[in-house]
Order: sequence, then structure tokens, then C-alpha cells
Amino acid sequence: MEKFIVHGGSQLEGTVNISGSKNASLPILAATLLTREQCIIRRVPDVSDTNYMLQILQNLGAEVERSSGNVTIKCEKLRSHEAPYELVRKMRASVCVMGPLLARQNRANVSLPGGCVIGDRPIDLHLRGLKGLGAEVTVDGGNVHLEARYGLNGQEIDMLGKHGATVLGTDNVMMAAVLAKGTTVITGAACEPEVVDLANFLNSMGAKISGAGTPRLEIEGVKELGGVDHTVIPDRIEAGTFLVAGAMAAKESITVRRVNHEHLEAVTDVLSACGCKIEPSGDTIKIYRAKNPVGANIITDPYPGFPTDMQAQMCALFATTPGHSVVKDTIFPQRFMHASEMKRMGANIDVDDGTAQIQGVEQLSGAPVMASDLRASAALVLAAMKAKGSTEISRVYHIDRGYEHIDDKLIDLGANIERLPA
Ligand code: EPU
Repeated sequence: MEKFIVHGGSQLEGTVNISGSKNASLPILAATLLTREQCIIRRVPDVSDTNYMLQILQNLGAEVERSSGNVTIKCEKLRSHEAPYELVRKMRASVCVMGPLLARQNRANVSLPGGCVIGDRPIDLHLRGLKGLGAEVTVDGGNVHLEARYGLNGQEIDMLGKHGATVLGTDNVMMAAVLAKGTTVITGAACEPEVVDLANFLNSMGAKISGAGTPRLEIEGVKELGGVDHTVIPDRIEAGTFLVAGAMAAKESITVRRVNHEHLEAVTDVLSACGCKIEPSGDTIKIYRAKNPVGANIITDPYPGFPTDMQAQMCALFATTPGHSVVKDTIFPQRFMHASEMKRMGANIDVDDGTAQIQGVEQLSGAPVMASDLRASAALVLAAMKAKGSTEISRVYHIDRGYEHIDDKLIDLGANIERLPA
């Protein structure tokens, strides 16, 4: 295990290159199970979650090669239809092998991922969708068994749950439907850019999906899919995290490069409202720290709303922004583990019923804190850069799950961070 020691007070300047999206890469890697042919996927971030997914694919029989962001995968023959608990428990997104396994082999056996620190994370909607396509579903001993002895059939399927659309659920059903007989219509589909990237990947393999990016997907089943060479979209959450770093700690401005600014509008709109100047141009966004920063009220929502994956980082920003701010997470109301750690650093945050009331303080102070999940850890790094003194952040393996070399990238911008054995 490793820890970070963040020495606060640095002023950031310069440009940071954003990596390919973790959350787009994971289902795309799983989708390579749908073909016997070779797939090349470029800009896959080198983070532990993508490494777990590659281990799962290798376990299922795929040949995998990885070099500098490019991954080559060939699943000519699958030797198993099982994703075991030892692998699934490490990463919830492993459930997205269910759809491709079912489509390719008519059966899948995948461990239930269980909850996690950001809240209860059921997969009832994934299962409802796959059942709709004709799979028999049984849950036994913590495992989900799916079987479609006579293949899958296109259907009209509503994916909307009580918290809105499901991203990986939409991905799973879309990946199963591409090889089903007939046409599938998914209503209440997630519209996130990562879902669109997966649909583009599948269409390049020969699938017939229309409507990606809207709540209604139409998928005409095809007999087989072929190999593809695909570049993953930029990671909008990594980019958003660096924009918040700029808002909190830029000497004057920083630039994030290799981003798609349309995907970041919900975040840049809030940062502008907080007084930052935002300059998008081509594949870059330059952010100037606010001269007179003000807080804001945020409610998370599915895309194009404000992403839940950016709520912790905004709490870090508001912790030292004068005035009162409110952050409500409607998607994962329990996702506030960062708040109690930030309180240890002197933040004035009160969380109740999925809502954080934040009164900005003049100065945070360094303290030993613990990373609890991916985005909470990123928020602690941001808070620590702004704090007086040094902050020791333990369990940084959480941050390495989804941010490619975040410490090196921040150090290049001028931050003072040490990575040490715990
Ligand atoms: N939900 C259900 N039933 C289901 C599935 C989801 O009730 O069967 C609920 C969830 O409990 C939640 C809401 O629906 O309240 C949305 O969850 P969703 O299924 O969309 O989440 P996910 O697909 O499991 C992805 C990202 C998360 C991100 C969420 C929401 C990946 C690998 N993960 O998860 O990313 O927070 O969408 O945008 O794409 C992260 O990167 O830090 C992260 C947690």
C-alpha cells in the first residue's frame, strides 16, 4: 500500500494532458468478447480498473497485449463463461461482461458485485433488460447465472429505474442485443458520452445501433461482429478534476489538453458561475482562477446534468470558497465519505439526506486522512493542495483505480506531492 504526502500551498501553472476515459474503456474492453477477430483499442488509461478488466478477459480466454496506451485483444475462442468473485469484487464494472458473454455463448455466470462505499449498487435493471431479451436468470450463492438456450431475441425494453437511467445497465443490454435475433428498442437508456463511445465501437464492429446519446436506442441484431481499431474518448471526469484543481490552486491559469469541451459543459458552467474564466479552444480548455470566487448550489443528474463523479471535487472547491454552497447527490446520496475526512482538515461541511451544506473557511489545515473511494480520494488531494501544511492521504490505491499518474501530472503543474510506501 502507498500513501501521498501533499505539501499544501503550491501554485499551479502549465498544461496537463488528459488520458482516455476509464469509464468508456471498461465496457469497450468487455465488448471485445463479442468477436473472434482482433480489436485494437487506443488511449486506454493505465489504471488498475482497466488492468482488472484485462485480467478478467484473459481469464475468459482472450489474448491481450498492452503497450503505451494501446491494447490489442483477440478472443478467438472463449474457454469459460464465468467471471469469479475474486475478480468481480475488485471492480464493480466487471458486471459488464454479462451482456457480451450471453450474446456470444448463450450463457454467463458472473458474481454479484455487492455494494460499495458510494452506496447500494444493485444490478436489477441489468437483469431486467437481459431477461427481456430472453435470458433465464437465477441468483445462487452470490452468483448470477444467465442462460438463453435458444439465443436472445430483440424486444422493447425499458431501462429506467427509480434513480434514472443506468449507464452500465444500458451498456450490458446493448452489448447483448447487437447479436440478438430481430430488433431491440431500449427506452430510458443512459445518454452519457461513454455509452455513445461504446455504441460507436460496436457499430464499427458491424453492429446496427441508432439513437446513441438519446434515451431511445434501436438495435437491429446482426449475425456476427468483426475486429476494429478504435480510440477511446477523453476522460471528462479526469479533465473536470484538473479544472477544479485550476479553480482552487492555479497561480493564474492552467490548461487541460486533449479534452472534448462539449462533454464538460455542466462542469465548466458551474465553474464560470463560481467566478472562473473558462476559455475552450480546439481540444483544450484554459481555466483562470476566480478573482472574487463565489459558491454555488449543485444537484447531480444524469448526462448532460452535473455528474455525480464530480461532486466530491466540487465539495473540495467549496470548502474554501467564501459563502455558503449546497451539493446534492441524487444518484448516489450516500457518496459523501470525503466530507468527514475534509472536516478533519477544518472544513465546515454538514451532510444530511444526500445533501452537503458547505460554509467556506479561509484556510484548511493539513491532517492525516483516508481515501475511501476513487473520486473522494481525488477530492482529498485537491483539498490538501490548498491546505496549510502537509496532508498524509492513506490508501491511495483508490485513486490509482481511475486516475492515470495523477501525482506526476499534478507535480508537472507545480504541486508538491510525494508517493511513499505506507
Ligand atoms: N441502479 C439501480 N439498478 C441497477 C443499476 C443502477 O437502481 O440495476 C441505480 C444506482 O444505484 C444509481 C443509478 O441507478 O443510483 C445510476 O447508476 P448506474 O447504473 O448508472 O451506475 P454504473 O453504471 O454502475 C457508472 C460509472 C460510475 C458513475 C455512474 C453514474 C462506470 C464504470 N461507472 O456506474 O462511475 O458514478 O455510472 O454516472 O462507468 C466512477 O468513475 O467513480 C464511478 C463510480
